[in-house]
Amino acid sequence: MSKIKVGVIGLGSISEMHIQGYLKSQDAELIAVTDMNESRAKQKAEALNIDLYYTDYRKMLENKEIDAVSICTWNNSHAEIAIAALEAGKHVLIEKPLCKTVEEALAIEEAAKKHPEQILQIGYVRRFGTNTQVLKRFIDNGDLGEIYYAKASCLRVLGNPGGWFADKERSGGGPLIDLGVHVIDLCWYLMGKPKVQSVSGNAYNKLGNRSNIEYKSFYKAADYDSKQNTVEDMANALIRFENGASLFVDVSFTLHADKEEVRVSLHGDKGGADIEPSLQIFTEKNNIMLNSTPQIDHLTFDFNNGFQSEIDHFVASAQGKEKSISPVEDGVEMMKILTGVYKSSEKQAEIRFD
Ligand SMILES: NC(=O)c1ccc[n+]([C@@H]2O[C@H](COP(=O)([O-])OP(=O)(O)OC[C@H]3O[C@@H](n4cnc5c(N)ncnc54)[C@H](O)[C@@H]3O)[C@@H](O)[C@H]2O)c1
Repeated sequence: MSKIKVGVIGLGSISEMHIQGYLKSQDAELIAVTDMNESRAKQKAEALNIDLYYTDYRKMLENKEIDAVSICTWNNSHAEIAIAALEAGKHVLIEKPLCKTVEEALAIEEAAKKHPEQILQIGYVRRFGTNTQVLKRFIDNGDLGEIYYAKASCLRVLGNPGGWFADKERSGGGPLIDLGVHVIDLCWYLMGKPKVQSVSGNAYNKLGNRSNIEYKSFYKAADYDSKQNTVEDMANALIRFENGASLFVDVSFTLHADKEEVRVSLHGDKGGADIEPSLQIFTEKNNIMLNSTPQIDHLTFDFNNGFQSEIDHFVASAQGKEKSISPVEDGVEMMKILTGVYKSSEKQAEIRFD
């Protein structure tokens, strides 16, 4: 089978994970890159020894040689680029979050439905972690029984990436849409993707971006700028699903707290599990409460392996060898949840979806 020819759009921080993934893939060939920042596009093409670089993604999409694209741009351009790419006949791997609003998500879903022969995969990279895939095997085997409660925290004490991440117009929101999307999706996926029934949330703008803090480094956007900050610094939510299950989540870019924390757990009527910070399964046997730790290489999320599996799966799906485990409709339900939290916080009331 011939290699999938790929172009990457948006050449900031996360694009490197996509680029490395394609370079290591036996079945993909990276042939073009695009960034609206011309010197970034030119430098990246030179570093990769690639002839084709663009500043306008539309020009890249006109190239018939390209079979597939990765979209690694600001969130406000995800929908527009994804729809244009599908219409140009490309397979699409789109970074999380799918987009900024439910309306945009529905428009992407419609475009994907019009082109069923093409793959649209959302970059929910944590679905591809070894710890997630191992736990899913236990869940699918019924070892946790009915999962009725999940809890997810992703708390940074200092970590507003600045630039577009801190501009609500371009990002759609702060830690909820940026970090919350990962851990909410992880729980939702493992809970069997139940339909959301209601959301009650709070978003706080209390601490600003704390760019005054010294001697502590953190993740920054490619074009870091701390002057503008219109996003929340902390959010929490209680999400109820139609099957009666619930998920409690809290996330922050900054918070007065001891240290950064990623903690994700699921609780069922036969067993429970921690996924983060380290995979562990809790059950009961012979009237004894039993904690089990799988003997696997990565008990916690491994960034490099997770991205490589995500890229490999995208390429295999585009070649028709696998069925994408992260399809567009999952992004629609997620955008309902995320935007529901912001709406609930503004109204100071629960948002219902029935
Ligand atoms: N999966 C993950 O763990 C993960 C981690 C970080 C970021 N992300 C996602 O990846 C995306 C990019 O984040 P980042 O951290 O790389 O940001 P970044 O600011 O470092 O890079 C974004 C790049 O996209 C370019 N760009 C923006 N809009 C464009 C457009 N319309 N056309 C061409 N180029 C454009 C910018 O010039 C910049 O070079 C975001 O959607 C973010 O949520 C995912």
